[in-house]
Amino acid sequence: MESSWLETRWARPLYLVIVFFLTLGLLQVVKLYMRRQQLLRDLRAFSGPPPHWLTGNQKLFGSGHLEKLDEVVEKYPCAFPAWIGPFEVFFYIYDPDYAKTLLSRTDPKSKYFHKFLVPLLEEGLLSLNGSKWAQHRRLVTPAFNLNILKSHVNVIAQSVNIMLGKWEKTCGTQETVVEVFKDINLMSLDTLMKCTFSQETNCQINSTHNRFIEGLTECLEIILKCMYSFFYHYDIFFKFSPESRRLQKWTNIIHQYTGQVIQEKRKSLKDEKEQGETEKKCQDFLDILLSAQAKNGNGFSDNDLYSEVNTFMIAGVDTIGGTLSWLLYHLAQNPEHQKRCREEIRGILGDGSSITWDQLGEMSYTTMCIKESLRLCPTATAISRELSKPITFPDGRSLPAGMTVVLSIWGLHRNPNVWENPKVFDPLRFSQENYSKRHSHSYLPFSGGLRNCVGQHFAMTELKVAVALILLRFELTPDPTRPLILISKILLKPKNGLHLYLKKIS
Ligand code: HEM
Repeated sequence: MESSWLETRWARPLYLVIVFFLTLGLLQVVKLYMRRQQLLRDLRAFSGPPPHWLTGNQKLFGSGHLEKLDEVVEKYPCAFPAWIGPFEVFFYIYDPDYAKTLLSRTDPKSKYFHKFLVPLLEEGLLSLNGSKWAQHRRLVTPAFNLNILKSHVNVIAQSVNIMLGKWEKTCGTQETVVEVFKDINLMSLDTLMKCTFSQETNCQINSTHNRFIEGLTECLEIILKCMYSFFYHYDIFFKFSPESRRLQKWTNIIHQYTGQVIQEKRKSLKDEKEQGETEKKCQDFLDILLSAQAKNGNGFSDNDLYSEVNTFMIAGVDTIGGTLSWLLYHLAQNPEHQKRCREEIRGILGDGSSITWDQLGEMSYTTMCIKESLRLCPTATAISRELSKPITFPDGRSLPAGMTVVLSIWGLHRNPNVWENPKVFDPLRFSQENYSKRHSHSYLPFSGGLRNCVGQHFAMTELKVAVALILLRFELTPDPTRPLILISKILLKPKNGLHLYLKKIS
């Protein structure tokens, strides 16, 4: 009789392989079990919303609807653990003392969050840590000095006027509903291209640039989905997933765009050199990086340059675009504040035919409205760190090294223990008198500490110029049939655009 295959000479090695893999699997299960037990012990002092046994608190965050977070912030003071599946935790904090403790340290960015962001951002300021981050930060900071910012005011005004021209064409003399979010983002791309790269792209008119904005939106959506999905934290599931392929496709589109920006800059510098133009009036961000590269040689490689340009394109467009959009929404919702801003701006700028840096400094009420809008809707809703050593908060509770801590800027700005009636739009919270009474870490739209936002003064400049020129030309009213629904896709985004009634002021 013929012997079964199990009795052949292959049977023994096959048994050994099966036993080997079963043992490996078992060891992995034991390791995960022990990790869970350790996490439960580490987090004993903190309560939070009950997690599902498999998916954890994914339901709370995966959808991006931040109103759910408001309820949790109200119920659990200071902080709570959010489970991402059974074996991983993101520790959320939203208390000013907790924020101050975290931001006074130098913990690196959390690898769980940045794992999905790094392919998009590459090795730029937002994702770097340690000495390389410090070197890049030193090189980049001069690009935002006062003289350079002052020179941007007129350039920003030009870009805003292009957008206003488009709106005037759409509206004519009628009050008309316009979806403003897309136009504002294109305007924001236009100013960034002009101010930081001295490039005239005509992107507000030429629709090919929409691919960059679309790509950014798609990438952030995919990354958010992956961050809060327990399975995608395992490379084996992520690498072969449709999300990974989509992320790759859109990342390539964005990277091609940034590659083009550098190429064009190098070409224009070469042309200037050939024409004997050696002296430039004002250096832009890319000039500063290119000269840093020339001075530092290998210390600042082509890849470093590429990564920083990429980071600035990604960090500088949607953030300002979103913030300006929420500001217009809040002013449309609150006509009394809109009127007061317009009166202030008219008093300073007249008809707005010219605008200067000094005039921006006089717009105190408008600035309070910008700050209050950034409080209610902080476009960057959260930042995260991985603890490099244990941390003890001022109330005596501690966390061990290795924990991922998420500072929820949204939660902090809407924390009822910090802000009275947190959901009410009240610019007077930012009057000199009220502001000086507040905790130094209760308001952090641009984060704080060493790793605060390097572009924050540029952002505030653009916001002031834009809102001033918009309010001089248009009256804004909300569209009650299409209320703004905000969701967090890493940055705040409108679920269905932002529709406002625009009426030209004659
Ligand atoms: C209203 C607009 C903006 C908001 C709300 C905002 C918010 C933030 C926040 C919260 C951080 C901290 C991120 C973290 O620690 O993970 C940050 C960092 C950063 N922002 Fe902004 N940002 C804005 C505009 C800009 C602009 C216009 C640029 C550049 C042109 C920019 C470039 C950066 C960079 C490079 C970093 C990393 C800084 C570092 O780690 O050293 N941001 N921003």
